[in-house]
Amino acid sequence: MSFDRSHFGLPTISGATRPGTLYRAWTAVRETGPLVYMEDWGMVLTARHDIVSGVLRDDRFGRDGTGVGARDPHAELTPDWNRYVRGSFMELDPPAHSRVRRTVSQAFSVRRISRLEPGLREKARTALDGATGTLDLVSGYATPIALGAISELLDLPQDCHESVVSWSHDIVRLFEPSTGTDVAVQAERATGQFAALVEDLVRARRSNPRDDLLSALAAGGAADLTDIEIIATVILLLNAGHEATVHAITNAIRLIIEHPDAFETIERQVEMEGTIDDRAIAELLRFEPPLQLFHRWTLREVELAGTPLPPGVKVGLALGGANRDPRRFADPETIDLHRSDNPHLSFGSGVHRCIGASLASLELRIAIEEFVRATTARAIELTDAGAWIDSVVFRGRTGLSVTLR
Ligand code: HEM
Repeated sequence: MSFDRSHFGLPTISGATRPGTLYRAWTAVRETGPLVYMEDWGMVLTARHDIVSGVLRDDRFGRDGTGVGARDPHAELTPDWNRYVRGSFMELDPPAHSRVRRTVSQAFSVRRISRLEPGLREKARTALDGATGTLDLVSGYATPIALGAISELLDLPQDCHESVVSWSHDIVRLFEPSTGTDVAVQAERATGQFAALVEDLVRARRSNPRDDLLSALAAGGAADLTDIEIIATVILLLNAGHEATVHAITNAIRLIIEHPDAFETIERQVEMEGTIDDRAIAELLRFEPPLQLFHRWTLREVELAGTPLPPGVKVGLALGGANRDPRRFADPETIDLHRSDNPHLSFGSGVHRCIGASLASLELRIAIEEFVRATTARAIELTDAGAWIDSVVFRGRTGLSVTLR
């Protein structure tokens, strides 16, 4: 990393940040100052908990930078991606955001989520019981649980699962802070195919409604969603509904395998209480959040941490860095499964706070509990922890192989 002070008077960091050294980079950012300028990403960046959390809850910062001059370098190559991915409610600001989010929240009821638990436990047990020899927890355990949950909610046919995983991977690669045209072309192709599938499913639900989330969305809800909004929302739910959760599950399991004291604590909780303490789930999410980096645009002139910024500045928010800020967390580099003061930002905060947080927490709980239970009957050994996926937005492993005897 090299430093100069040219952008907004901020220390400027040049040089790519790599997944393998991500937390070291977040620490360097935090220690350099409340804000730094990341030259390669063209953004002001913060890894401080108070600033990340403040920006997420401040309406002078927005997801949608189109009104303040944000430019998409791949716009001409990616009309479908812009229509259905950039056009989803996650990328909008209130009031457009609130209109769609309200409809989704209503359809995303506690009753619908809690009905999933027995089926998900069954899926988890089947994956572990049926496994002999080596099992890759990313593809053979976390993916069936995470994709199974959101697919069940949306009643997505089983024969579409493989395509949805592959399209989702291609789509989210375009969220990285700097990408080439090859990534844009692939993301566009995937979005077009994904949208065509969802359009067919929506049409089918309209002529034959069922008691599922997709039928509720296809009906448009009280806000009378347009077809584009419905398709964009379903793609967002299918995509956000499994990408982050797969990594959350495998990151958490890797952590407890690598920290036997944490494993024992959880094993004891499952044995004595029948479930894992909420504080333990929150701590695993704090320590290794699957989503590390989000951004907002300054929508007007603002002063942030003493630095005046004009409208149209991209502000990067390092959630993973904020989660380990020693100004906010006692002993942040230690996994403390009893941590009670834990305002982690892994699900974000403010108007865009993760709409799937309770579903994701349920999936994480089931996946860890069933995994720990299985180890009481069988010896499980971590045989290959894979590599970090090539991303600074998502944090997860390419694979996580265990041997079951
Ligand atoms: C452990 C797993 C998950 C993590 C860590 C996570 C994290 C996040 C974060 C940080 C945001 C905020 C984005 C922002 O502020 O710009 C978010 C938004 C969102 N998440 Fe999740 N998520 C997870 C699982 C899920 C699941 C299972 C769903 C399923 C429906 C989901 C759906 C969404 C949606 C739709 C949004 C956009 C909300 C909005 O813009 O109002 N997420 N998620």
